[in-house]
Amino acid sequence: MTLGKEVDVGNRERQDGQQFLEVGKVDEVPAGKMKHVEVLGKEIVILNIGGKFYAMDDRCAHMNARLSMGNVSSDGIITCPFHGARFDATTGKKVKEPVLTPSQQMEPLPKTWQNYLEHAGELMSYIKTYDQHVYEIEVEGDRIKIRV
Ligand code: FES
Repeated sequence: MTLGKEVDVGNRERQDGQQFLEVGKVDEVPAGKMKHVEVLGKEIVILNIGGKFYAMDDRCAHMNARLSMGNVSSDGIITCPFHGARFDATTGKKVKEPVLTPSQQMEPLPKTWQNYLEHAGELMSYIKTYDQHVYEIEVEGDRIKIRV
């Protein structure tokens, strides 16, 4: 996505104080892949979905797992590696709630572990999972920039 005027080099500051900062090169994020970056204290995941780039917070809105360590589908749905919440990386919208109960296909756990997981599951049931923040992104030549 190209926004406004072209620039020749470096990063630039916008009138509202936000700026486009370079976060990587196009060839560092192949199609279907994700890349974790840290910019101004924010952890952000950059994705390439069919040749188009997107940027979203890389901390899950449930319990802060790093989303870039999860999976991304060909249509840009990221699955959190921790409890399986899913987010549409093109919009930041949550599309599936976390899964808080162990799979029925698991081997039975020792009773102390079952008790612990039941207690943790009850506590987690009160945690709300929100949409993720997304960032404007643009590609200039081989450079990927996001607005922060
Ligand atoms: S931390 Fe992501 S679903 Fe729980």
